[in-house]
Amino acid sequence: PAKYRTVHFQRAKDEGRRFAMLTSYDAMTAEIFDAAGVEMLLIGDSVGNTVLGHSTTLPVSLDDMVLFASAVTRGATRAFVVADLPFGSYEASPQDAVAAGVRLVKEAGVHAVKMEGDERFAEHVAAMTAAGVAVMAHIGFTPQSENVLGGYRVQGRGEDATRRMVASARALEEAGAFAVLMEMVPSEVAAAVDAALTVPTVGIGAGAETTGQVLVWQDMLGMRTGGVPRFVRRYADLHGTITDAVTQYRRDVLSGQFPAPEHGFES
Ligand code: KIV
Ligand code: NA
Repeated sequence: PAKYRTVHFQRAKDEGRRFAMLTSYDAMTAEIFDAAGVEMLLIGDSVGNTVLGHSTTLPVSLDDMVLFASAVTRGATRAFVVADLPFGSYEASPQDAVAAGVRLVKEAGVHAVKMEGDERFAEHVAAMTAAGVAVMAHIGFTPQSENVLGGYRVQGRGEDATRRMVASARALEEAGAFAVLMEMVPSEVAAAVDAALTVPTVGIGAGAETTGQVLVWQDMLGMRTGGVPRFVRRYADLHGTITDAVTQYRRDVLSGQFPAPEHGFES
């Protein structure tokens, strides 16, 4: 398609095909990922960690999200663009959720928003959908609730967990969510949720049976040294590539090797 829409992801689910989603927070990566064929881009509130240097997503504001999302929509042409509703912008009421969602659609030009929350937030999903804002629900581990959940931990383990996760996902689908994302959920639980839903699912640390997969680009392209979560595959070593290039640049500047005559202007 010339432009991805929710119908394409529903068709993928219906026909047993998959799709790829990747975070992006700026116009240049949006353009690169879009041109590489990535079907869905996410301006995650992980921008708090990856770009702004916070240790959690909690300080990210709606203004921040509008700024970064605007850059991404300017860089993307075909991809379906989704922005996170940040912590504090939607929880208190369905009206708050509508206001936040409308801002992201209207001011940043995103095609949908993603909202963390289980069936207790079904009314928020219904209100946004009624207002014309497409919603991806985010269940399982929801980082904005890390202080309630007790840190970064797999959700949906133990007795009755599958039934409860399926009930949650079904309530959100019923409320109008066009897709349900699951983070850090046992693979079999995520597979059961995907099988129980009509709408597509997206997984991160949720096994291979979801309709789509999502990763944070700095994780999958190796921008960081040190450990990455077990659900990440590192497809490049950008940290090493950039370090080598910048080291060489500095060496050339200090030795007078850069700039060379061809980099200068004639009088
Ligand atoms: O903020 C984010 O990047 C996300 C994905 C990890 C799902 O919510
Ligand atoms: Na997020």
